[in-house]
Formats: sequence, C-alpha cells, structure tokens
Amino acid sequence: MKIAIVGGGPGGLYFAALMKQLDPSHNITLWERNAASDTFGFGVVFSDETLGGIGNADPVVAEYMSRRFARWSDIDIHFRDQMITVGGQGFAAMSRKELLELLQRRCIELNVDVRFSTLAPAVEELEANYDLVLAADGINSQIRAKYADSFKPNLDMRTNKFMWLGTDQVFEAFKFFVKETEWGVMQIHGYPYSDEGSTFIVEMHQDVWHAAGFDETANEVFPPGVSDEKAIAKIREIFAEELNGYEVLTNNSKWINFTTVRNENWRHNNVVLLGDAAHTAHFSIGSGTKLAMEDSLALAACLHEHPDVESALAAYEAERRPVVASTQRAAQASLEWFERIGQYKDQDPTQFAFNLLTRSRRITQENLRLRDAEFADAVDRDFAESQGLTEVAPAMFQPFRVGGLELKNRIVVSPMDMYSATDGIPGDFHKVHLGSKALGGAGLVMTEMVCVSAAGRITPGCSGLYTDEQRDSWKEIVDFVHSRSTAKIGAQLGHSGRKGSTKLMWEGIDQPLESGNWTTVGPSALPYSTENQTPVELDRAGMDAIKAEFVASTVRADEAGFDLLEIHAAHGYLLSSFLSPVSNKRTDEYGGSLENRLRFPLEVFDAVRAAWPAGKPVTVRISATDWIEGGNTSDDSVAIARAFVAHGAAGLDVSTGQVAKEEKPTFGRSYQTPFADRIRQEVAVPAGVAVIAVGAISTYDDVNSILLAGRADLIALGRTHLYDPQWTLHAAAEQEYQGPGADWIPQFRAGRRKPPSSRTDAVRPRLSLLKEADIEEANTHLRWTPESAAASVLVK
Ligand SMILES: Cc1cc2nc3c(=O)[nH]c(=O)nc-3n(C[C@H](O)[C@H](O)[C@H](O)COP(=O)(O)OP(=O)(O)OC[C@H]3O[C@@H](n4cnc5c(N)ncnc54)[C@H](O)[C@@H]3O)c2cc1C
Ligand SMILES: Cc1cc2nc3c(=O)[nH]c(=O)nc-3n(C[C@H](O)[C@H](O)[C@H](O)COP(=O)(O)O)c2cc1C
Repeated sequence: MKIAIVGGGPGGLYFAALMKQLDPSHNITLWERNAASDTFGFGVVFSDETLGGIGNADPVVAEYMSRRFARWSDIDIHFRDQMITVGGQGFAAMSRKELLELLQRRCIELNVDVRFSTLAPAVEELEANYDLVLAADGINSQIRAKYADSFKPNLDMRTNKFMWLGTDQVFEAFKFFVKETEWGVMQIHGYPYSDEGSTFIVEMHQDVWHAAGFDETANEVFPPGVSDEKAIAKIREIFAEELNGYEVLTNNSKWINFTTVRNENWRHNNVVLLGDAAHTAHFSIGSGTKLAMEDSLALAACLHEHPDVESALAAYEAERRPVVASTQRAAQASLEWFERIGQYKDQDPTQFAFNLLTRSRRITQENLRLRDAEFADAVDRDFAESQGLTEVAPAMFQPFRVGGLELKNRIVVSPMDMYSATDGIPGDFHKVHLGSKALGGAGLVMTEMVCVSAAGRITPGCSGLYTDEQRDSWKEIVDFVHSRSTAKIGAQLGHSGRKGSTKLMWEGIDQPLESGNWTTVGPSALPYSTENQTPVELDRAGMDAIKAEFVASTVRADEAGFDLLEIHAAHGYLLSSFLSPVSNKRTDEYGGSLENRLRFPLEVFDAVRAAWPAGKPVTVRISATDWIEGGNTSDDSVAIARAFVAHGAAGLDVSTGQVAKEEKPTFGRSYQTPFADRIRQEVAVPAGVAVIAVGAISTYDDVNSILLAGRADLIALGRTHLYDPQWTLHAAAEQEYQGPGADWIPQFRAGRRKPPSSRTDAVRPRLSLLKEADIEEANTHLRWTPESAAASVLVK
C-alpha cells in the first residue's frame, strides 16, 4: 500500500512504524515541516490499558518506554497550606521529547521515508497519488480545514489560560498546587517524567490572568521555539515556594486557550484524521500524545484486518469515536471544573481533594475506596465532623435540616406526575405510590406537581389542591406517610401555564387533547410549540387570580399536613415561563430584564411564603439553563436562585430545561449536578440554604460522591424510584449500613439483610494473602523518588 502521512508528531510516527512492522512492503512517506530536533513538550502520561495495547503491537517501543518510565501512584493536592495525599492511582510517564526521538529512530530503522523540514504536498495531490492519506497534522490541521465540509469540525476554544512548562524539580507524585494569590486562584498540574524533571502546567481563569497583568504580552507574536519569558519570570516569582529553588524549564512556552476539537466525520475519501487533528481532550484528564498513539494502534489494526481502505477507515472511526467521545465528556467536565475552581477556594482541604479527584465523574467514592481506603475513610469522617455529626456513616445516610425540617437522610423522591387523578383528586394509586416510597426509606418524598387550579393542570389526570375534597384525599396520604414511616412528605405546587391542556404522558406528551381543551395562559401569547395552543397573555387581574390560587392551595397543603412546600418554577410551566426570555416577551414591568421576569414568580413566592407556617420550609425548583441560545443560562440561574433565597427560600431544587421545544440538552450521568454545584457554592453555602441535585443520578456511589464533594446537600432520584421503591433501603443493605438513616419499618425488618450471592467455601492460602496484602500496601503509596528512579535504572 502507498501511504502518505502528513505530520511527524507521535500520531504520524507511531502509525508509520506500526504499518511497516505489519508489512515491510508498504511504501510510506511522512512529511514533517519541522526539523527532527524541533520537538517540544515535557512529560507524557500513560495508563495501563494504553501500555498493554502498545506492548502487544510493538514490543520494541513498549520495552524502551517501560525502561524510561517514571512510575508512581500518589497524588498530592496542595491546598490552603495543607498537602493531602491520595494513593493507589497508578501512573507512568516519560519525556515527550525522548518518546518522539524513539519513534523517529524506529521509523528510520523500518525504512519509512521520513522527510523532516519539508512541507507536505497539497492534499489533493496526495489523495490522487496514494492509497491512503493520514492527516496527522495536529490541532491546527490544514487538511481538516481544507475539507471542512466533509469533516464538519467544531473548535471550542475555552476561556482559561494555560502554559506548558517544565521544572528540573523531580516531583515524587502527581502534584496539584492550588494557590490563592492576590489576583485569584492559580493552579499547577505537575508530574514527573524522568529522574531529571517534571511537567509544570500553569493554569488560571482569564479574569485572574488579566488581574495578574499576564495580558501584558497578549499582543506579542512569538516565533516558533520562542517562549514568553516575561510571563515566565512572573510565574517563577508567584510559584517560588512550590519551585523550591528549582528552575522553570521552557520550550515553545506561551499562553494558550485550550481548544477542544471535535469532528462530525473523520474520513473524506481516502483521507483520514488522527490525533489532535481529529480530537483533543483537556490535559487535566490525560495526554493528547497517548490518545494519538491509541488512534494509530486502532488504525493500523483496522487496515490490517479489513480487505480495503474504505472499510478499514470506517472500522477505525467506529472503534475510536465512542472511546474519544467518552474521554472528551470526562475532559469537558474536568476543564469546566478547573474553569470554576475559584468557587471552591474556601472548602475544607480534604473535601476539596475529594472534589478535585471526582471532578470528571469517572472516579467515585467507591473507586477511591479500592485505591486508597484510608483516604476514603478520612473523607467520610471529615464530612461528619464538618457538619457536627457524631456518627460516621455513608454520606447519603447522614441527617440534614432544610429550614426547620429534620430529614433522616439525604435522599429525596423527586416529584413525578403520575397523571392518574380524577378531577384533581389523588386516589388509592397515589397512596400506594407515595406510601411505598416512604416505606422504601427516602428521607423526603415529594408529590407530583399539584396544580393550583383546574386550568393550571397539565393534563386531565393531574392532581390539585384547589378543592377541599382534594385536600382531604391528600391528607389521607400524608397521614399514612407520617403514621407508617419516618419519612417527611412535601407537596410541589405549580401551574402548567402554556404547557397545559395536553394528553396523559403515555398518550402523547405535550400534545393538545383531542377534545375538551381548556384555555391556557402565559406571560406572552406564544405557544410552546406549533402544535400547542397559543396561551392568553396574562393581565394584572389574571396574575392576581393565579397568585390567590397559589395561596389557597398553600393553605390546603398545610391543612393536609405536608411538611414542606416546593414552588415549581422550572420546566416551562407558568412561573418558569415568566422567568425565561424565550417565553416571556412582555414589555411591561414583568418582562425584559431578569429583574422584571422574576417579579411575578417572586410575588407568588412571597404570597405563598406568607401563607405557609413560618416554621415549615418552602423550596423552589428551577431550570438552571434553558439549553437554548437566547434562553436563561447558568449565570441567570445563579441570579434567580439568589433572588428566591433573598425572599426566604429554604432550598433550591436544581433541574434544567424543558422550557423550549427546540432545546439542545447535553445529557449524561448526573448531567445537571454542575448547575446545582455552582448555585450551592455561589448562593446556597453563603446563605446557609439547601441545594437539591437531580437528574440521571442512580447509584448510591454517585449520590455519596456528589454529597462528599460538597456539590449538593440532598439528592433527588426520580426514575430510579420507579425502578425500585425501596432504593434507599437497598442502598443501605449494599453498604452494610444499619444506622438511623436507613429505617426498615418493623414489618420489613426481617428482610433487611442483603440476599446472599453464590460463594465459595475454598480457603485461600494464608501466606499468599499476606503477600498480597504487602503488595497492596506498597502499591497504595508508590512515589517517584531518587531510590525508585535508581532501581528502575538497575532494571534496565
Ligand atoms: C506547546 C505544547 C506543549 C505540549 N506539551 C505536551 C506535553 O508535555 N505532554 C503531552 O502529552 N502533550 C503535550 N502537548 C499536546 C501534544 O503535543 C499533542 O496532543 C500530541 O502531540 C498530538 O499528537 P499528533 O501526532 O496528533 O499531533 P502533533 O504532535 O501536533 O503533530 C503534528 C505535526 O504535524 C506537523 N505538520 C502540520 N502541518 C504540516 C504540513 N503541512 N506539512 C508537514 N508537517 C506538518 C507539525 O509540525 C507537527 O509536528 C503539547 C502541545 C503543545 C502545543
Ligand atoms: C414520570 C415522570 C414525571 C415527572 N413529573 C414531574 C413533576 O411533576 N414535577 C417536576 O418538577 N418534575 C417532574 N419530573 C422530573 C423528575 O422530577 C426529575 O427531575 C427527572 O426525572 C430527572 O431525574 P431522574 O433522572 O432521577 O429521573 C418527572 C419525571 C418523570 C420520569
């Protein structure tokens, strides 16, 4: 096969070497515009899986790499004058320069035609004359730009500033130095790559960067190879303590905004993207070099396994795309976390360390327990201590107080409309549904959205609190919960607004009724979708009437005995539609600015708060983003949360979206939690109110991890409770927790033991157990010290 490779980075070189090993008759030409010696960068970190792949494919490269590796397992997090060490992570890194030199040698040995200091010919020419053209031409790929119509690239340039640097200080472990400076928080990501040096990446928020005066060189153009020495002199000063007398090493070092590269397609005829040209993932989650080499492995294997180039390229893309997408999702969560690192500057150091380690959601409390049990225990202890709790227990089983309401644990049954009421009256179905959730162990059971009027229902099956009969039925349910369980029960009050008068969920969600539609209302005469009826724009009298309905329902909710009230100001229903600029186009004092859009929801909140007993809490559910251009954003949600808290909300239940039909949400595991986290740090913690996180949280491990990291105070689970009404009790059994946070009612107590799984009676040899224990202990805290470096030289 005749192969053209554009780019002599790790991706291009490694691919060339692999292909030549698979078949020496391949005719491969590689163009690299820079000289062979123009390599840059410091350390490259690898995981065990990548190393396994490299080991299988190319033992020569793998052997050399493994001899040159710095290996360690600890992460040291330096924060607020403390160093927290977490072990068991397993890292291997080597010098990027050395790796490139090795790959260059390997290509030359294997007779690849490597043309350094030579620009590649135009891609059209390569495409016509070669069987395959590999675009390994890096993050600014010109081939990608040339065929942008086919590849459909998306370049997401982030706002943080960072710089690749090194130091001749050999760190013993992965180091995060998080430093509060007079200009704001700056952080170092540092890791050793040999017995001679460490990578030393400096990163900070753009505001901090400006405040520190780093923008002084913003307009200077540095030629290739030249570093921003002015900025580096300042970095030396700021991090003098961390550098400990050692030098800062530079190589092409200047300020960069990280750009996440994504492409809808990786192939155009016989041209294929690889490495940074195809995708990038923030450096805080792993190295681009590693990703590029993994691509090379996959592409070479696919070409070897498939009969023609076309099917091989399709197989390569199919294999790599999901892996890259998953890495990019984790990288996105990680980079966003670092962009907002300043919000955690007052966290307790142990909690901060846990928060940092679990930032991408790939690592959880249970993973950490396996890696470093001592640290996992310290996190649980610290969580209890920081809240004045005497019992150390899994975080989800620690009690919590919302306003004056004491909850036995941190689990909330999220409000879920069952569309099963008759004339707004909840019946046996609701009693069994909510009753079983209360018996199932959740600390707080929320009703579905209970509507304040018949016209405020979403569907004819929605329940209400606009008649005394409805109140009396709710009272039966509340009494059952109170008499048969230790759960608390809250009512969610709402009005459907422009999303009302629709079919039951399973008959056609958000679709108007076949017959019997009622008039809907909204802030503006704008329908939710072209299918829905246009709502009547509310006038002052209409708004007053709805406010009075909220108050009347509040009084009934108290009479029914509910412990907590939640105002539904999310998901596009009436109050939410006032908050969102997508649905609120009013020109009076209830539309326009956020202050105006908040006015009616706050009037309702104030009236409800005044009618609800002072000792009982009112929470508010909001949509923290509309997931649509021109809609409310995370910034707006912080202001909305702040306004409700200023008016007396005891908690914020942070959901997102469902405001506009055209929304483009980014779903994923616990995808709404970053919004809850931000509101908690910026609004709730300073005000001493609660934050409830919700959305695709379904394991006790995720629940505990979110709580321990300080991202939320309570966790609401919706669909998970439909799957398993006894979810909380089962989570207790899984965690072997038997304290007061998991209340097995006497009638159920006989079932509190986890059903036994199959087990073996074979006795494990005791001496081997001892050996394993020793090895585990040694591996938990492996550091890269002069002794371990010397030992690795001896192995060579
Ligand atoms: C300053 C800097 C420092 C970095 N430091 C590190 C680090 O310490 N550790 C780490 O893991 N990662 C580091 N990275 C990221 C890492 O370099 C990339 O993720 C990785 O190199 C991607 O490999 P690649 O083969 O896809 O692309 P690249 O390594 O970018 O290789 C692309 C190559 O193509 C060449 N090229 C482009 N167009 C043409 C053309 N028309 N003709 C001929 N040649 C062409 C370029 O000169 C370049 O050498 C660093 C990146 C930068 C910018
Ligand atoms: C059947 C069903 C009905 C729902 N009804 C409501 C509701 O009445 N009020 C509300 O605020 N959210 C409602 N939701 C949203 C849930 O409260 C929750 O926010 C959402 O399901 C995401 O959480 P989960 O991933 O744990 O299910 C409903 C969700 C489902 C699945």
